[in-house]
Amino acid sequence: MDGCSKTGGGGLPRTWLPLNLQRDYYKPRQSVFPPFGFHSSLPSLSRASFLMDPYKHRPSSSYNSPFFTTNSGAPVWNNNSSLTVGSRGPILLEDYHLVEKLANFDRERIPERVVHARELPGVQTPVIVRFSTVIHERGSPETLRDPRGFAVKFYTREGNFDLVGNNFPVFFIRDGMKFPDMVHALKPNPKSHIQENWRILDFFSHHPESLHMFSFLLDDIGVPQDYRHMEGSGVNTYTLINRAGKAHYVKFHWKPTCGVKSLLEDEAIKVGGSNHSHATQDLYDSIAAGNYPEWKLFIQIIDPVDEDKFDFDPLDVTKTWPEDILPLMPVGRLVLNRNIDNFFSENEQLAFCPAIIVPGIYYSDDKLLQTRIFSDEEVNYFPSRFDPVRHAEKHPIPSVIHTGKREKCIIEKENNFKQPGERYRSFAPDRKERFIRRLVEALSDSRVTYEIRSIWISYWSQADKSLGQKLASHLSMRPSI
Ligand code: HEM
Repeated sequence: MDGCSKTGGGGLPRTWLPLNLQRDYYKPRQSVFPPFGFHSSLPSLSRASFLMDPYKHRPSSSYNSPFFTTNSGAPVWNNNSSLTVGSRGPILLEDYHLVEKLANFDRERIPERVVHARELPGVQTPVIVRFSTVIHERGSPETLRDPRGFAVKFYTREGNFDLVGNNFPVFFIRDGMKFPDMVHALKPNPKSHIQENWRILDFFSHHPESLHMFSFLLDDIGVPQDYRHMEGSGVNTYTLINRAGKAHYVKFHWKPTCGVKSLLEDEAIKVGGSNHSHATQDLYDSIAAGNYPEWKLFIQIIDPVDEDKFDFDPLDVTKTWPEDILPLMPVGRLVLNRNIDNFFSENEQLAFCPAIIVPGIYYSDDKLLQTRIFSDEEVNYFPSRFDPVRHAEKHPIPSVIHTGKREKCIIEKENNFKQPGERYRSFAPDRKERFIRRLVEALSDSRVTYEIRSIWISYWSQADKSLGQKLASHLSMRPSI
């Protein structure tokens, strides 16, 4: 796909008003209701058009516009990509539509968190960890196929660092503009209150960058045995920066010392059927028994001077960094050796935000991280005559000079299919079969249309030809490219 020439959503026409109103209100760039007398300088408009009753002929609003609009009724010409400096970012705060969309999304459910509602912490000073499931409600079984949140708060001497990650190293989408839509597709259907595959497959059929994430979610590891036996990842790319100001991109990874274990479908039914909180219980009991869960922390780093050398964009959150080229380097160990005493005060009141960093760690232009930073913010004020705090000593932040025009577009190196294909080919034959079975099951939902099914077969064929052929034959469809 070509990069910036597209809107991502198939560009909408510039003239968005209903035809009968365009003539009167759209053509001039002046205000819709100019001051009396102003019309005489606009020969292209008839006098009558401005003398019309403005209430009767109000421009369309979201009530009757055929187009997607902001809350205030303005047409949205691109609901897929955030507004960035050049094609890769960073994101501009002036992207009002993005800010509004996230502000609505962040507040749409009170008091249960909109995602990751189901969670459990374990503590080791100076670190607290909260595990969560993402989509389902707080009382839902912990055996459901869903990513798991792996949020770690480091209480460092220079402030807190929140590494708010997941158990998979990639994410469904690369632009935060799509996050609210994505969650709405994954959440239960508002009508039936049931999570429905056809809605998920419909939404993601527009987003082939999600294939890599699905190659994790629909794999065996899509249902971790419990929290102790799953990996974690910071997912987003951060920057490590030394005192001299030299920056490296960094990805963080957690590897459990007791290994990775998953529940296959029949086991999940059995475990979930007898205890809907089995993973919470496992974590609590293990810590209480002194069998402390443990992870090793690894990092991968890239010198920004090398960032163009790959066939993918290293700041694209739908990509992993190949470990043979960018090896995992051990940097630490995490041991959970204390349970909390009070669920409400120590867990429910705990908040994580990827914007919370400390000197030496900085964000990157990873578009998803950029969105996450301002999706969650704290309000305070400074200076104050009552609290004479001073500015701290300056610490280095990346000194990259950004040039580029404002644009809403997709990155150039999308490369959506290579890594999911490689991952599928790395599976043993029985694991491949289970993966295919889950895909076929999802695609067999009777409300998944022929078109959506074909799109998915085409996507998976591009990732791996034989996988595409197998899916097609299971679904009695014709294989595509
Ligand atoms: C633009 C993209 C994203 C947005 C707008 C977003 C937004 C949110 C929101 C609103 C919450 C609930 C916060 C609360 O009520 O306390 C949340 C929680 C969380 N998100 Fe995201 N998220 C995004 C991407 C991601 C990604 C890529 C990851 C994985 C790396 C992630 C991991 C988490 C985790 C682990 C939690 C739960 C943290 C906790 O235990 O409190 N999110 N996110």
